[in-house]
Amino acid sequence: MVTSKPEYHEKMNIHTKTKTIKKQKIKLHHVTLLSLQTCQKTSQSLTTRSYLPGLNQMHNILSHIGNTPLIPLNNLQNERPIYAKCEFLNPFGSVKDRIALAIVDKAERDGLIKPGDTLIEATAGNTGIGLAMVAAIRGYKLICVMPEKMSKEKRQKLRRLGAEVVITENAPPGDPKHFQEVARRIATSRKRCFWTNQFANQANPYIHENTTGKEIWEQSKGNLAAFVTGVGTGGTITGVARYLKKKNPNIAIVLADPVGSRLAGLINHGELGQDGSYRVEGIGSSVVPAVFDPNLVDFAVSVSDEEGFAMTKHLVQKEAMLVGGSSGFSVVAAIKAIPRITEPGMIVALLQDSWDRYDSLWETAIQ
Ligand SMILES: Cc1ncc(COP(=O)(O)O)c(C=O)c1O
Repeated sequence: MVTSKPEYHEKMNIHTKTKTIKKQKIKLHHVTLLSLQTCQKTSQSLTTRSYLPGLNQMHNILSHIGNTPLIPLNNLQNERPIYAKCEFLNPFGSVKDRIALAIVDKAERDGLIKPGDTLIEATAGNTGIGLAMVAAIRGYKLICVMPEKMSKEKRQKLRRLGAEVVITENAPPGDPKHFQEVARRIATSRKRCFWTNQFANQANPYIHENTTGKEIWEQSKGNLAAFVTGVGTGGTITGVARYLKKKNPNIAIVLADPVGSRLAGLINHGELGQDGSYRVEGIGSSVVPAVFDPNLVDFAVSVSDEEGFAMTKHLVQKEAMLVGGSSGFSVVAAIKAIPRITEPGMIVALLQDSWDRYDSLWETAIQ
């Protein structure tokens, strides 16, 4: 991990704070017991909450989203090293934890939702899983609309997290059965139901500009040549590129696109490419999502399922990075991009999510 001194001190501070909180918890346990005894004796209706001196009620799992490490992939044999931005280490296991919190924060600030309401999202799974975390902490119900292509592990996880899961056919965009269309219809037909709409919600690229992009810049100390990732909504690549291009317009922004996605054609030849099928989940598209700004991407690299999944296996077995399928695509694209990257500095590939949601993919495609 590339950890700067201020970050190190901040981490040590957090460590010290955690120790203090632990000590406080032990004290608290004692104080709470005493206070409960006092309450029982005096029949006062005091809650234990009022006896939690010094414990920050706002500190919860959401405070641990982001600030993911940047780690070199030491077991790849390339002329230039690739660094991994480890988004699979977010609390609920994906880059989408960031946007789940950002979207709910913005909707709350704008007065669009309040606890008890229902959030609904059209999701490949990860945004739904991130939203389940935010919904639990903030008191919302959750409906996730997923195309049937997405792994059954993601469905199971969402149900275990308390979400209602609606599965749609793998219909093309514009079709009434397409998962985004279904989510929109449910949102308008139910009361107090808010469509978080990651494909069009500007809180999505905004949070990547102000956290993911900023972190990569600071972790690399500005010694950065390229950033590589795939596009689902395009929020990650757009937000990160906005931040990095402002710092240094020569940093190459590279799209890792599955063979069969139409986006690589748009970036490299100015028009959407041939539509095809691919197994990797969460990246690739046949349309340009609303939050994706293709003008910020310098070039695209196409990656086949075979290449991408072989790299996923390498990441898990040789780099000890417990990642999902799309992460392998970022790294393959980064390696293929090396001859075109002229700037000195680090090449960063984003590892989007965790392997815990892809058992069936391992059984059928990765091995
Ligand atoms: C596994 C996975 N990888 C990559 C992405 C793409 O991220 P973004 O939507 O920010 O383009 C997604 C998005 O759904 C995803 O689920």
